[in-house]
Amino acid sequence: MIVCGIVGYIGTRLAVPVLLEGLKKLEYRGYDSAGIAVIEDGELVLNRSVGKLHMLEGKINGDAHQGHVGIGHTRWATHGRPSDRNSHPHTDCTGKIAVVHNGIIENFLELKEWLEENGHVFQSETDTEVLPHLVEHFHQGDLLRAVEQMVSKVRGSYATVVLSEDHPGTLVAARKDNPLIVGLGEGEYFFASDIPAIINYTRKIMVLEDGEIAVLTAEGVKVYKNGSPVEKEIQLITWDTKAAEKGGYPHFMIKEINEQPRALRDILTGRIAPDFSGVDLQEVSLTAEQIKNIRKIAVVACGTAYHAGIVGKYVMEKMLRIPVEVDIASEFRYRNPLIDAHTLTVIISQSGETADTLAALKEAKARGSRVVAITNVVGSSIAREAHDVVYTWAGPEIAVASTKAYITQLLGIYLLTLFLGKELGRIPAGEMTDILHHLYQLPKQAQDILDHLNEQLNKMAEIFNQWEDTFFVGRGLDYAVALEGSLKLKEISYVHAEAYAAGELKHGTLALIVKDVPVLALCTQPDVFEKTVSNIKEIKAREAHVIGVAFEGNKEIGKSVDEVIYIPETLPLLAPVLTVIPLQMLAYYASVHRGCDVDQPRNLAKSVTVE
Ligand code: G6P
Repeated sequence: MIVCGIVGYIGTRLAVPVLLEGLKKLEYRGYDSAGIAVIEDGELVLNRSVGKLHMLEGKINGDAHQGHVGIGHTRWATHGRPSDRNSHPHTDCTGKIAVVHNGIIENFLELKEWLEENGHVFQSETDTEVLPHLVEHFHQGDLLRAVEQMVSKVRGSYATVVLSEDHPGTLVAARKDNPLIVGLGEGEYFFASDIPAIINYTRKIMVLEDGEIAVLTAEGVKVYKNGSPVEKEIQLITWDTKAAEKGGYPHFMIKEINEQPRALRDILTGRIAPDFSGVDLQEVSLTAEQIKNIRKIAVVACGTAYHAGIVGKYVMEKMLRIPVEVDIASEFRYRNPLIDAHTLTVIISQSGETADTLAALKEAKARGSRVVAITNVVGSSIAREAHDVVYTWAGPEIAVASTKAYITQLLGIYLLTLFLGKELGRIPAGEMTDILHHLYQLPKQAQDILDHLNEQLNKMAEIFNQWEDTFFVGRGLDYAVALEGSLKLKEISYVHAEAYAAGELKHGTLALIVKDVPVLALCTQPDVFEKTVSNIKEIKAREAHVIGVAFEGNKEIGKSVDEVIYIPETLPLLAPVLTVIPLQMLAYYASVHRGCDVDQPRNLAKSVTVE
């Protein structure tokens, strides 16, 4: 089982540099091992290495590689530990057929046994290795036919590309439930898991659909489904190549944090009515009748997107007075959820490809629920499966730790809530206008935080050089943001961070509060401010070092904490958008100070297309 990045090339350039460059752009999909297979003088040559891509590069002697056809892979192991032997590409018994794969072959044990009975010898612990052996088994001179037969035997999910020494001018790929695109250049063609891998060569792409098989030669691409040719639409990629590069910043994460004012502006563009009377969400096709019939909202997501969903619960329940449940996708799909035609399901996902989230979406649909997706990736599986999509327009997010995607997911939630609230008549006109005016100010206020707090937060983060534990506390929406703040810190700096509803501390966690331990106390919600201050007093009584986060002008907070991070004032409802920014920056600087790999933290991957 694997999550990973795939690249394939056929054309006039040398294949090795194209493959390595493409894999570098896909490392966000996994980076514990990598490999390439290239046809050199009619022979298939394999290079694989455990570790990051530079380990593979170190193994490859550039001069020896004159081939113009090849496939490459960067891996995130879940089945078969990271090792040279378990790295892709995998080959058949003859070493003439090489395969890269993203996904899970669910019936691989069964297939492996059957292939072994037929004399095949396996080299790795992976599920993927059954694929080259299946191609070998079925190959009778026609590679397309052999791949079709391979696919017919396999249960599970895959994006896979096959290269064979017997067909040195051809690449064949198949897709089911995992992304794969074709890039069309001048006399050269590409396969890739994602656009950044090939954007430096071409902007013309085709998105393969489930069940399709594509054949690339130097003359062009042919796509088949159920044995018949399919006409595919060619899409033109309009984004700037720079958008997928670091643009002068030392890490993608800090670049993406700094892109947040722009991202906020982009998601709001064209969506606030010029007279601030409502929002324009033409992409949501729910009728007034359907909206009136909503009895419950189910929000389902994973990771950071799940934390955006928790903010959503507070916001939607407050404004719509409809009960909202928030579920982690991997829990939702197996708990026989109470979802029906009166439930609106809101699916949140940056990548639009997270396996558990996609499965939850299908589960909700199967139970008759209408599904709105909030996602960043146009044409992703989740975007295509949902009834309606609110795109977050954050642009490509490369750092594993999500920042600009989270903040735009919050905006997606506000926009959807305001849209539903207006239809339901639950938001008075004056309140709507007030909220929209404040939403409109957010990009500028986010910029103020970046401009004015950078130095303070960089310095403040040094505290995590001495501490392996920390706590984030808050009530209501502050608690929802505390969850995201603690995830940011732990995932990239490896400091153990726990988020607690401030009122819950005394039921157990207070036992962990010791002298000088850092505690982040979020205090932006006026209706519970005094209650949170009482909790801070309990923490201070144990001599912890408390850092408050509050709106500018809040003088009270300074009396109860050791340090304060002041953020520009907005409506308490919108506070999460601004509160999270200093927490992201603290996590970033803590990771830098501790010498961690900021963009590619250990054991994680950006896009988790496996259960
Ligand atoms: C991975 C990423 C997280 C992300 C989560 C959900 O774990 O590392 O940053 O929040 O997947 O991903 P999605 O693309 O569905 O938002």
